[in-house]
Amino acid sequence: MDGISLECTYFSMDGLKERTFRQIFHSPPEILSSAPGRINIIGEHTDYNNGFVLPAAIHLRTCFLAAARPDNEVRIWADDFSEEETFPLEAIAPSEKRRWANYVKGIFWVLKQEGHRLRGINAMVWGEVPLESGLSSSAALEVSVIMGLCALWDIDLPALQLARLAQRAENEFVGVKCGLMDQFISVFGRKDSALFLDCETLDYAYHPLNLERAGLGILVHDTKVRRKLASSEYNKRREEASRALEVLKAKGARSYKDATTALLQSAREMMEAVPYKRARHVITENARVRRAVEALQKDDFGSLGALLFQSHESLRDDYEVSCPELDLLYDVGKGFPGCLGARLVGAGFGGSGIALLEKRAGGEFRKRLLVEAEKRGFPRPEFHEVAIGQGAAVSKVNTSDGS
Ligand code: GLA
Repeated sequence: MDGISLECTYFSMDGLKERTFRQIFHSPPEILSSAPGRINIIGEHTDYNNGFVLPAAIHLRTCFLAAARPDNEVRIWADDFSEEETFPLEAIAPSEKRRWANYVKGIFWVLKQEGHRLRGINAMVWGEVPLESGLSSSAALEVSVIMGLCALWDIDLPALQLARLAQRAENEFVGVKCGLMDQFISVFGRKDSALFLDCETLDYAYHPLNLERAGLGILVHDTKVRRKLASSEYNKRREEASRALEVLKAKGARSYKDATTALLQSAREMMEAVPYKRARHVITENARVRRAVEALQKDDFGSLGALLFQSHESLRDDYEVSCPELDLLYDVGKGFPGCLGARLVGAGFGGSGIALLEKRAGGEFRKRLLVEAEKRGFPRPEFHEVAIGQGAAVSKVNTSDGS
């Protein structure tokens, strides 16, 4: 590794990116930050409903390399797209053409809103997290940028605040009303562990994922389906679930966390069919997260897998965020020896699913999915075997020539 020194051994990089940075900006980089994407073991569409989630950071990361400039200009080079976005700090406005730029600009915007002093920078971003695939590439980008900028400008913020500001950037600047799960796990992820988070109190606990020992692995199945309407559908689900909660509150529930299916049933006549189904998903999914934690504590992967299947059913039928390409993973997984569980991951409407698999069954399982996808005329899926990685990190760059 020439050029860039990193405190963290789990993330390594050769000097290539440093050289690219120098070629573009004619000056050396000063800091490097990186943040991971995530899978979510279980607990989908529960975060913004103040419920429970159980995500884990993955080894795929997004990186941000930056240096100060003497003026108020910001130049960001996105190495994966060979595109540059420039803007003055006085006018941080969303970009029409470049969606990636809005996640970066959103962080500048939110830090400005918080009263921090911004300065001009040159920066480069690149990443390994597949975009819009349900693996949270947006949070990885937001978190890597906020970590990098805070290090560069000596802004000292607690880790939780970093996650919250990154979420606020996405909510208010990008316009997606996401919950906190993705940014939280990107900051707090821990190697080989899943993280249980109560999204209301923000209490959290790590649970070791002893998959290797059990001969298991997690396979990500990227359907390659990307839906333009995903963010508006997402915001709609959020609104429907909160409408249902109002009725449950009138029935005495304080939040989804303490609502039961019996209480929901008693409110059946007071709710339209759609909010009723959304509420049923949230209530049962919260219960599944709790049971998943118990299963993990006993290394009971059979029970964990069964919960994954149930989660998919509920997301498909009650929350209605699946699609035929995601259902394929579930359908194939359900009858496949060696597949303990499978479900869609993240917001849904396309993107990816995860399967909990016996390692030795992985090859055959992929083959089956490829054959079935082709038969049904779906895009050819892509697979990633994910390792559970560490949360975000930042370090100063020690350039090879000392400059
Ligand atoms: C997206 C959002 C998260 C969460 C999931 C669904 O990933 O960013 O906040 O709501 O969808 O669980």
